Amino acid sequence: MTQRPFYFGSNFKMHQTAAESQAFVEGLVGQVPPAPDVQRFVIPPFTSLPGLPDVARPGCIWVGAQNFYPVSEGPFTGEISPPMLTALGIHLVLVGHAERRTLFGETDELVGRKVRAGLDAGLRVLLCVGETAAEKAAGQGVAVLTRQLGIALDGIEPEALGRLLVAYEPVWSIGARGTPAPVDYVAQAVASIRSRINGLFDDAGRQIPVLYGGSVNLSNCGGYAAIDGVDGLFVGRAAWTADGYGAVLQAGFAAHRMRGGWSS
Ligand code: PGA
Repeated sequence: MTQRPFYFGSNFKMHQTAAESQAFVEGLVGQVPPAPDVQRFVIPPFTSLPGLPDVARPGCIWVGAQNFYPVSEGPFTGEISPPMLTALGIHLVLVGHAERRTLFGETDELVGRKVRAGLDAGLRVLLCVGETAAEKAAGQGVAVLTRQLGIALDGIEPEALGRLLVAYEPVWSIGARGTPAPVDYVAQAVASIRSRINGLFDDAGRQIPVLYGGSVNLSNCGGYAAIDGVDGLFVGRAAWTADGYGAVLQAGFAAHRMRGGWSS
């Protein structure tokens, strides 16, 4: 059995001003995490990022960015580059979130370019994968995960794998219109993700944490966190206050610890 950190983070999406994010992170710094090997992170909007890593540092909380463009600089009006993020002390970048794929037309190929550019810049990359409702209905769930992972992770150097995290987020379970996924469904999907990652990277793939996200809340977090192969939770709405964040983290971690952490 391999013990590893329990990862817990929130994507604020297009919510919170800079002042609100700062107050939120100050609230998290004031909370005692349930164990030393819990790694917390927050992913606020760009406008909240300057200075936030300094606020988060006393709590060892990673601060992430929701998006970036995968080149260092150039004529890309409105975009942000990896060096701009590293200059702010950002620890993590989110890539391939369902809302970027479905609302902003991000293709598997662009997602792959972003994964490589983020890792090349020395950032941690949290790659989201997941099938849509239509793909699920067509029985294509595993095929979609296989394709998304294959394209996103193509050409990643083994040395960079230690900075890669994957989140399974079924598109149909995300957001206010989403439906919480059955635990056994998530367990099967996570097993297929693990098997795909291990197929791509052999033993080196085992170090990649797999998180679960999609309508995670206080009442269902324990079921997801206890799934074999799930190393953490990635939460939206239920963790948009420091109190909510702390409560879901405590409950999720308790269930994860009861399971005994990750094993393979
Ligand atoms: P949700 O968002 O928890 O509000 O469903 C999750 C996500 O989009 O990552």
